[in-house]
Amino acid sequence: MTNTFPENFLWGASISAHQTEGAYQSDGKGLSVQDTRQRDNHEIADFTVAVDHYHHYKEDIRLLAEMGIKIFRFSIAWTRIFPNGRGEINQAGLHHYNAVIDELLKYDIQPFITLNHFDLPQALEDEGGWSVRSTVDAFVHYAETLFEAYGDRVKNWLTINEPNIMLLVDKKILGKEIPLQEKYQQFHHLMIAEKYAFKRCHELITEGKIGPVPNISLVYPATSKPQDNQAALYFNSVRNWAYLDFSCLGRYNTVFKDYLNRNNIHITFAPEDKKLMETHFPDYVAMNFYTTVTVEKPTEKAGMKNGISDQQSEDIMEWGFYKGFTNPYLAKNEFNWTIDPDGLKTTLQTLYDRYHLPIIITENGLGAKDELTADGKIHDNYRINYLNLHIDQCLQAIAAGVDLIGYSPWSAIDLVSVHEGISKRYGFIYVDRTEHDEKELSRYKKDSFYWYKTLIETNQLPS
Ligand code: BG6
Repeated sequence: MTNTFPENFLWGASISAHQTEGAYQSDGKGLSVQDTRQRDNHEIADFTVAVDHYHHYKEDIRLLAEMGIKIFRFSIAWTRIFPNGRGEINQAGLHHYNAVIDELLKYDIQPFITLNHFDLPQALEDEGGWSVRSTVDAFVHYAETLFEAYGDRVKNWLTINEPNIMLLVDKKILGKEIPLQEKYQQFHHLMIAEKYAFKRCHELITEGKIGPVPNISLVYPATSKPQDNQAALYFNSVRNWAYLDFSCLGRYNTVFKDYLNRNNIHITFAPEDKKLMETHFPDYVAMNFYTTVTVEKPTEKAGMKNGISDQQSEDIMEWGFYKGFTNPYLAKNEFNWTIDPDGLKTTLQTLYDRYHLPIIITENGLGAKDELTADGKIHDNYRINYLNLHIDQCLQAIAAGVDLIGYSPWSAIDLVSVHEGISKRYGFIYVDRTEHDEKELSRYKKDSFYWYKTLIETNQLPS
């Protein structure tokens, strides 16, 4: 088998606004739910400064250009454009991203922009957030504003980052638990907002392309027991296919509908929704992948709390449906996340056969506690090894017929992780700060930076 990637394969690197930018109240920016959310761990860095990418974007982009990336996946902070979610445009915010886009294009790096990555404006949250229809309207106006402002130069767009993980792991990501009925009304609104984004991107941008960006990873049954297989069927649907079936096929799938019925959840549709769902579709699927999940059928209710507290943890539990299970065949990283490169190939094959759309991986990576040596080096062989194993499975998926068009790992530069602060690092570029001491925020190239640069240059995995 060849170790060379197809010509024009989109090598990239990814970040999100709130995890990198900082400058959380600069130049007219409003507060987002990420700026205000409750944290259950107060010992970690918050997003007020993050890695100050807002002020360092030129330096960061220059380093990324040196690494050779072809695409840069980043998100726009809604609250920089509309500090209150809607209303008057904040011109300073609009200018900032104009400058970022132009800086990328100067180096021939194509922007892949996520419209929204977990940071809903707090002002909209105060009005009910994704539970109320007016947030859909505000989102559509925000998306149109971006398409009109940047669509002459930005052709590739992603809608809303990981709506599946945001709803399933609500406590960790949003700082609050959303009751089930409300959660799935939010699901409907998020998915409808996305449909409008597909529609308006295609209408407003010549050759504009857009896709959903969920976190997709296959769910395995713990054993060959038929009941465990049923558990995997339901969690696959609730975690993965409910979202992509809506985006790509325009329907609520049957297993998901049964899950909703059995939980007595009723979704309110607006009159235009059915037609909208069935009419507008993505150009590609962007997916984030870290690991796979394993579940069994829960047999004991006593002592178990319904809920899901991590995107892949053993404490997944929904009585009557599924319960997380420790997969004995998979190793774990130092933050207890399982590592499953083979699962990436299987996930890609399953996804591609279901939708027949090009796929781009927009997140994949290893969170680790890196160490900066006295001579300014970071020897992150563990990260190189992780990426190597996953990229190899991408090659194998392509050889098996999957139309995988790009790979953009998490993350371009170190950033503040959703739950574990700056100590859990993902970047190719190290940012020198600790949880509480921002220091100079100096940038250093890790060993993985040089490794990825060579990989991109040669367009092949070292044999
Ligand atoms: C993805 C998110 O779910 O996982 C990122 O899109 C996040 O925003 C990444 O950083 C890794 O998760 P964590 O909890 O390690 O930051």
